[in-house]
Amino acid sequence: MAALMIAPSILSADFAKLGEEVRAITEAGADSIHIDVMDGHFVPNITIGPGVVKALRPHTKAFFDVHLMIAPVDLFLADFAAAGADLISVQVEAGPHLHRSLQTVRGLGKKAGVVLNPATPVSAIENVLDLVDLVLVMSVNPGFGGQAFIPQAIEKVAQVKGLIGARPIRIEVDGGINPQTAAQVVAAGADTLVAGSAVFSGGPEKYAGNISAIRSAAEAVLHRDAA
Ligand code: DX5
Ligand code: ZN
Repeated sequence: MAALMIAPSILSADFAKLGEEVRAITEAGADSIHIDVMDGHFVPNITIGPGVVKALRPHTKAFFDVHLMIAPVDLFLADFAAAGADLISVQVEAGPHLHRSLQTVRGLGKKAGVVLNPATPVSAIENVLDLVDLVLVMSVNPGFGGQAFIPQAIEKVAQVKGLIGARPIRIEVDGGINPQTAAQVVAAGADTLVAGSAVFSGGPEKYAGNISAIRSAAEAVLHRDAA
């Protein structure tokens, strides 16, 4: 299995000092930075655009995992690539043509992710597996941080794992991840964990402890399963 990655979501950071926050979570042990982009149309919230991603880029060498919750999406893919995204994830429903959107991301030289909402069946991605580096299983409905984990995501992770087989595709889970839910989704096959509120709670002096609590809970499962 791919090495475990913890990806703090800056949706829960202090937006008035995002550069400092990104540096702080990098130093605290983040493996990548999860950037939630919302348009007030695909989801009922508005967050950040490519200009902010570009402004954050000099603050860390960490991998930028950009989660686009916008529709239509194609119009903006080149802007996020140019802004410094390393991986760009597209929601299945962003439309109109998921396959084309993923081809475009790959064509821009970036890793491509596809996102399953809680109501989206795993079968929706069967025909695009050759175009993705990551499948993101949403364990909340997209739009806000701090929501409760939806337990059906655990079984969905297992289904995705079965579908991808030996392909080198990461399985990421996003929403309501804390040490307890991290252990549950890793046991089902996830290798990349997004966490917003669980990482940013308590302020910068807590970030390293918050990240390592999630990592330890997840690694305990991996070591148990390997034994
Ligand atoms: C929700 C976002 C998540 C969110 C997770 O639409 O995609 O990345 O920030 O936040 P927590 O970890 O607080 O559920
Ligand atoms: Zn996200």
